[in-house]
Amino acid sequence: LTKTPIDDHLLDQLRRACAASLPHPGAAALLQHSDEAIAWLVREFNGLSDLRVGRTGTRREMEALLREPPPEEGSDFSAVLAEYQEKVAPYACRIDHPRFLAFIPSAPTFYSVLGELLASGTNPFAGVWLEAAGPAQVELVVLDWFKEFLGYPAEAGGILTSGGSEANLTALVVARERLTQEERGRAVLYVSDQRHWSVDRAAKVIGLPPEQIRPVPGDPDWRMSPSALEKCIIEHCAAGLMPWAVVANGGATNTGAADPIEELAKACGPHKVWLHVDAAYGWAAALDPEGKRLLQGIERADSITLDPHKWFAQTFEVGCLLVRKGGLLAETFAIRPEYMQDVTPGDEEVNFADRGLALTRRFRALKLWLSVKVLGVSWYRLLVNHCCRLAELAVELLSRKPRFEVLSPRRLSIVCFRFVPVGSRRDDDELNDLNLAVVDEVRRTGRAFLSSTRLGKQVALRLCFINWRTTAADVEEVLSLIEETGQRLAEG
Ligand SMILES: Cc1ncc(COP(=O)(O)O)c(C=O)c1O
Repeated sequence: LTKTPIDDHLLDQLRRACAASLPHPGAAALLQHSDEAIAWLVREFNGLSDLRVGRTGTRREMEALLREPPPEEGSDFSAVLAEYQEKVAPYACRIDHPRFLAFIPSAPTFYSVLGELLASGTNPFAGVWLEAAGPAQVELVVLDWFKEFLGYPAEAGGILTSGGSEANLTALVVARERLTQEERGRAVLYVSDQRHWSVDRAAKVIGLPPEQIRPVPGDPDWRMSPSALEKCIIEHCAAGLMPWAVVANGGATNTGAADPIEELAKACGPHKVWLHVDAAYGWAAALDPEGKRLLQGIERADSITLDPHKWFAQTFEVGCLLVRKGGLLAETFAIRPEYMQDVTPGDEEVNFADRGLALTRRFRALKLWLSVKVLGVSWYRLLVNHCCRLAELAVELLSRKPRFEVLSPRRLSIVCFRFVPVGSRRDDDELNDLNLAVVDEVRRTGRAFLSSTRLGKQVALRLCFINWRTTAADVEEVLSLIEETGQRLAEG
């Protein structure tokens, strides 16, 4: 490149043009704005039980409320905050509401919220050690806590991800790394028919064709059968296929059932089949003796997905992947292009960008570290136990009411059931329609939010308890609401 010198006058102009930072509100205004925002957050946080669970709006309504051209000039923060409070926030479900029991909810502690704020406020680059040794060390510490909860060995390694979907994908990429190109063409992935669909998407992303994904039959409790898995492995070996990996559930999304992990590990071991446990929902149960028993053998898995933003009271987004032989993560993902030559970590140091899909990473570990340090692990043990007891209470109440049929008893903190009008001679299809209508009606009340699923041919209403706010009174209210709604719809 030829250098074209500019004259002194132009140079001076440039210096003056860049002499000052851009205008930005100063400390006094920032404190005032922060106070306004945080005071509102705390009010909402403490008053959730009395709020509607949330409402939705049509696209047309949302357009009418929010469509506008990009504003060339800025406006007053308080006015924009008020607009958010009036036009945006009310149109999102409060999934941390004590009576939001649909899907897998999330109910962060306020320390998780503050952790997110502090992480955003300092915005470290949590991808490489050189730029963020403190945040990387905090992530290592938090990962070691999780390893300890699950009984994983010291050599295990991990990474915090955006959620369970990214963790499941990352696990399959690591598991595939040891296959040759030839083996990839005949590798078989075994899955449960109760798997989360992120497993199918992960398989799609890594280019595994559907015929290389084989569902393994389950038992009547919707758990993968180890003997059926073993049979598949032997048959597929004999047919020249390569049994490659199994994704087992450590708490299935539908029913909460945990697969018999210990037995599955025994079936995988002799054939060197990679065992991945998707414990995105159920992992925290390992903090409680009952949950630990249900997840027995999880420490034998080659990799584990666990989502703190589900049953560990964290704000979105934080998932996690642990890999038993931790070194495999960097062996799979580390690439050092010339423009990153300065960030090669020392022997003991970790570049988390070398362990997964993302280079630029937010400091997710902070909210976890802050929450656990402020509340203690004992609080999380209580959380798990409390949620399991709520689910137990729900099953007990359902069993005493003649209009309910429990379709899948409590597994961890999930219960599936349906409403059946007394004396009903309705067939499954009619009951399915009725129960779907009940879900819609209950949601419309704003008092509770449920979701449905399908177990075999039957539509099931599903309650998932992960929220530290939910009480016995909430369970009673939700069940009464379902019963009244079901009866009204059945009679109408
Ligand atoms: C068992 C299981 N695995 C994976 C996922 C996907 O996790 P995420 O939504 O955090 O990507 C979920 C989500 O509900 C889940 O229940």
